[in-house]
Amino acid sequence: MVEASTTAEQAGALVWRLDRCGRIKVGSEVHKELFCRMLLGTFDPYKPAIIDWPELSGDELDRLTGLPFWSLAIKTEGLTAQRMQSFADTIEDPLIREAVVLNAFEERRHKQVLHNMIRFYGIEIDPEPEYVSPTNPEAAFIQTGYGECFDSFFAFGLFKIAKDSGYFTPALVETFEPVIQEEARHILFFINWLRYMQKNRLIVMRPAIVGRRFAAIATKVWNRLSLARGGDGTNNAQIARKGHQAMGIDLSPRSFLELCLAENERRLSAYDPRLLQPRVMPRLVRLAMPMLKKK
Ligand SMILES: [Fe+2]
Ligand SMILES: [Fe+2]
Repeated sequence: MVEASTTAEQAGALVWRLDRCGRIKVGSEVHKELFCRMLLGTFDPYKPAIIDWPELSGDELDRLTGLPFWSLAIKTEGLTAQRMQSFADTIEDPLIREAVVLNAFEERRHKQVLHNMIRFYGIEIDPEPEYVSPTNPEAAFIQTGYGECFDSFFAFGLFKIAKDSGYFTPALVETFEPVIQEEARHILFFINWLRYMQKNRLIVMRPAIVGRRFAAIATKVWNRLSLARGGDGTNNAQIARKGHQAMGIDLSPRSFLELCLAENERRLSAYDPRLLQPRVMPRLVRLAMPMLKKK
């Protein structure tokens, strides 16, 4: 098995592949090995406490503290971590449980990175809510997994903009590279787990998981539509919309979506090509693309 950490330089090149040749049948034991070992084998052991936050100039500090999404980002990571851990506690399969426990750990670590940054730069955020355990941990996990697929799609594009625009010092941007690449691993794991479970549930149970998939997708689409109508839904679409504006980037919606598509492909292509890839967002975006002006 090839195991490697995913750094900025490596993202885009193949950094992990299961050491086994040939086709892998979706839903098989080898498929389970593939998606679980991908997550476990690419773990990056960085420690938030020893991150060396760069000193920022007055302007840079103002731009960072002025970004509108820090409270929402911390809340999202906290909620995601709690839902993943709640689901992990119910899983009987030791390998899948180990992988979901790691996923929950990484979400808690994302929150820790954000907390440390906020403390270091004196950014003010709203008080964190109390995270309530879900009554149906599997349904909550599916909802969260789709949420990560939607949000990561835009986050990959925004991160590329932040990196190339010079809006923030490269040292600060690079600090978040492992966090962003971890989300790519999470959504790959989630999509493969979902298909594996669908294949392995008793036929009578399959409609339940299919129903949860559609419920999760419908909820996400509804939230996005609410935002488009000017509703006050609080989710990460705001990160894409406001973050893009706040960074002062003059980019057409179509160019932004093209960038998101390219980054999505680049980041996900770093892992074994036999893994199933998240398809909902790229398909929706490709459908919408011809309706958007180039400039
Ligand atoms: Fe996260
Ligand atoms: Fe995640």
